[in-house]
Amino acid sequence: MGFLRSRFFHAVLILALAFCLFRFGIRPPAPWSVIRLYMTVVLLATLIYVSADSDSWRNFVRPIRSTLMDPSQRALRYALMVVIPLLLGYYAYTQAAARPQAPPELRAVHPAPPDTIQLRGKPINISGAENPLRKDQASFKKHVAAGGEIYIRNCMYCHGDNLDGQGHFAKGFNPPPANFQDPGTIAMLQEAYLFWRIAKGGPGLPKESTPWNSVMPAWEDRLSEEQIWQVIMYLYDATGQQPRRWETASGGH
Ligand code: HEC
Repeated sequence: MGFLRSRFFHAVLILALAFCLFRFGIRPPAPWSVIRLYMTVVLLATLIYVSADSDSWRNFVRPIRSTLMDPSQRALRYALMVVIPLLLGYYAYTQAAARPQAPPELRAVHPAPPDTIQLRGKPINISGAENPLRKDQASFKKHVAAGGEIYIRNCMYCHGDNLDGQGHFAKGFNPPPANFQDPGTIAMLQEAYLFWRIAKGGPGLPKESTPWNSVMPAWEDRLSEEQIWQVIMYLYDATGQQPRRWETASGGH
């Protein structure tokens, strides 16, 4: 019973009660930084309380001293020698361990495209626009071949030589490079949508597609308008996918 009357026990009790009060008694829950601040104040007040006079202070340190020195407390000492480092280690681990990432489904993979974009100062229609290179059937092969070359030079190391998103660097990125063979990517997108994505890349994505930051580069400074339309033609030709058409009725997105 001596322990229950000691100042040390009082101090522990005050701290525990204060913690429960701050942690569970405040609605809405206070942030941890605030709780830490309040607990520091309570700790200081408690130390002032237990050290108010020398009797009280001796009473406070007695259980600590006896735990550290009394031969009868040896078992408790050993137990603490194991438990305290374990607790500290666990705390350090929870602070340092990688936070689990939220599932990628929460990211808007295909956000609505902008109506127009600027390409080197020139406004380009996105919404409702078609690939202008498709008008000239005779040069189709030429454009696809040029697009293939652009793809091999610039896109292959991420999107893969089979256009399946398995390029050399693919494993290092989250989100991973798009797999163009998958019906969930270019097959359900319009060519102008791809134009926007290729020109503006990950940095051009709107907020709802972050914070899972895309490494997809913006190609507006490295590829010309024609080259972007060419690489798009190559993507569809090489995968055998058809670009999605813009809904002609007003009901389109
Ligand atoms: C550094 C790696 C990297 C390179 C190089 C790269 N991409 Fe990407 N690309 C990505 C990643 C990652 C994504 C998926 C995230 C996103 O949508 O932004 C992506 C997405 C895309 C998309 C969107 C597909 C969809 O379903 O929304 C298109 C289109 C695309 N890339 C085309 C290209 C083209 C064309 C090139 C070459 C000119 C290229 N990419 C080069 C990493 C890369």
